[in-house]
Amino acid sequence: MAPELHRPLVVLAPMAGISDRPFRVICSELGADETTTEMVSAQGFLTALKNSLAYQYLLDVAPSERHVIVQLFGHNPTWMAEACRKLTALGRFAGVDINMGCPAQKVTGSGSGSALMKDLPLAAQVIAAVRASTALPLSVKMRSGWDDECRNAPELARIAQEEGADRVIIHGRTRRQQYAGRASVEDMAAVKAAVSIPVLANGDVFSAQDALDLLRQSGCDGVMVGRGALGNPFVFEQIQAALQSKPVMLPSPQRVLRMALRHADDMVRWKGERSAMLEMRKHFSWYLKGLRGATELRRRIHQTESLDVVRSLLEERFAQEDVHEEEN
Ligand SMILES: Cc1cc2nc3c(=O)[nH]c(=O)nc-3n(C[C@H](O)[C@H](O)[C@H](O)COP(=O)(O)O)c2cc1C
Repeated sequence: MAPELHRPLVVLAPMAGISDRPFRVICSELGADETTTEMVSAQGFLTALKNSLAYQYLLDVAPSERHVIVQLFGHNPTWMAEACRKLTALGRFAGVDINMGCPAQKVTGSGSGSALMKDLPLAAQVIAAVRASTALPLSVKMRSGWDDECRNAPELARIAQEEGADRVIIHGRTRRQQYAGRASVEDMAAVKAAVSIPVLANGDVFSAQDALDLLRQSGCDGVMVGRGALGNPFVFEQIQAALQSKPVMLPSPQRVLRMALRHADDMVRWKGERSAMLEMRKHFSWYLKGLRGATELRRRIHQTESLDVVRSLLEERFAQEDVHEEEN
């Protein structure tokens, strides 16, 4: 994890299918103090073939990346510890996070992710086993609880602290809520009040002002940003500016389009053109959000697998002076 900072930490959230090497590099260049990998299955990692391309990509870290946290999920303490030991030995991660918040049925069905919030004794065993397997800083990412009847994040946070975690992250929604409603600042404040280790607040930060409000209202030590960075990695420089009481600048449409192209370039160099251009489609949609003519541009981008074609489409757009924010 990043060296002790005397200001709130601003961290890119783990996002499956999103927080890969190219996206993390961009977010850290724009001011994320730390970034998090996509979630990694302990069991999948341990049983993957030695040269599994999927895991090579999942665990790849760029030489320029200094503060990447690897996120593990699983419910078996022995597997979690073994996976953590191997990931630590790779020598490329600055910390390890345990996923106790994922709501997806394919994860909770086996008792992992947010399902661990329904079995605190097992959650404690998982944390203790992982703690014993690594000297890296350890965090636990949780939700407010499983549902309204089981809003036990403060209790899990206390357990995490007792078992040796260095930090907790709280997404202020229950598993049942998935992404509905607003993340509860009260739940985040309750976790902060329950422990003395640092707490990161997570949920619904889409702007610098959101981050300032959340920090003030929750009393937490930092913020973790997920969806707010999609198509807008600039949110990190905006939050950093706001934290230093500097003016918050919104990027020009040209800068957004240049970033979309740079992201695509990095992705193509990393994964090859075909696979990269398929993965970039969702990112292009997010980058183009709010630009006039975005719907038509998006449609044309989705028809091609060629970076050159996308480049000409976007450059054609740079050339126009009326790239204004009108259409969503
Ligand atoms: C596409 C997507 C993938 C996600 N993948 C993960 C994951 O792998 N591990 C995890 O702990 N949370 C995952 N999350 C949850 C986020 O880390 C975060 O907790 C949640 O989106 C709330 O924060 P936000 O409002 O800033 O997006 C994912 C969220 C999204 C939108």
